[in-house]
Amino acid sequence: MFKKLAITAVTALTLSVGGVAASESGGIHDVAFSFEGPFGKFDEDQLQRGLQVYTEVCAACHGLQYVAFRTLADEGGPALPDDQMRAYAAQFDIYDAETDEDLPGKPTDFFPVGGDENAPDLSLMAKKRAGFHGPYGTGLSQLFKGMGGPEYIVAILTSYTGEEKEEAGTTFYENTAFPGGWIAMSPPLAGEDVDFAGGASNELEHEAENVAAFLMWTAEPKMMARQHAGFVAVLLMVLLSVLLYLTNKKIWAPVKGKDFV
Ligand code: HEC
Repeated sequence: MFKKLAITAVTALTLSVGGVAASESGGIHDVAFSFEGPFGKFDEDQLQRGLQVYTEVCAACHGLQYVAFRTLADEGGPALPDDQMRAYAAQFDIYDAETDEDLPGKPTDFFPVGGDENAPDLSLMAKKRAGFHGPYGTGLSQLFKGMGGPEYIVAILTSYTGEEKEEAGTTFYENTAFPGGWIAMSPPLAGEDVDFAGGASNELEHEAENVAAFLMWTAEPKMMARQHAGFVAVLLMVLLSVLLYLTNKKIWAPVKGKDFV
């Protein structure tokens, strides 16, 4: 009787855990990004390619309103040379409140908001979707499998099935990675959408990975500095613990001397 119960309980548990894992991943697979792990680093070239994909494809609809042009020149980020960063900013017309006209962007300006009001701003998307399902995500995939927002973005861009349907005047596209299965964004990438300098691969999966890495950087530009500070803090704590241990031993040595053992 007890054995039977135990078996049922174990089976139920395995099934439910399996179910959660399946519904949570939704075809999302792990990508070995350069910035993962305690010593990870953003790959400059990859961020530059991602910026190019964003500029040539995604910017038509999506904004990056929390990102300032000047940060594109930051070390540890895309690290564009200063003149290229200025030239990049100048391509955009930014509204200037002082003169009441649109002027070429300056390094201190921010990316404009997107052209499609239904398209969410992408600045923080890679962090918003870290648990995959927005505010309701559990974050378990990230914790156990190292998969987070960037993997989710890669999956969204590569998981269209080709099916479409129209509802209340809006076209929805079937996408196995999107919660609910139908997304209002038409497939933005098909592969070979942009030409990368140096002939880097522009297959769909690679374009998606580049833009996802870039969006991770926009969401957390100081990730490396933070990890570095954390690592130094842990080292200091270890050192402090050793010193405290030795001090403690020394202070109590007369009391805990051989006579007392
Ligand atoms: C033609 C306009 C258009 C283009 C181009 C476009 N998107 Fe979108 N995108 C949308 C719309 C509209 C939504 C909202 C979809 C919804 O909520 O159903 C969206 C949603 C998203 C989401 C959020 C999904 C979620 O979980 O809510 C991500 C991530 C995204 N787009 C990334 C991109 C990337 C990266 C590119 C460039 C490779 C891109 N988009 C190009 C219109 C666009």
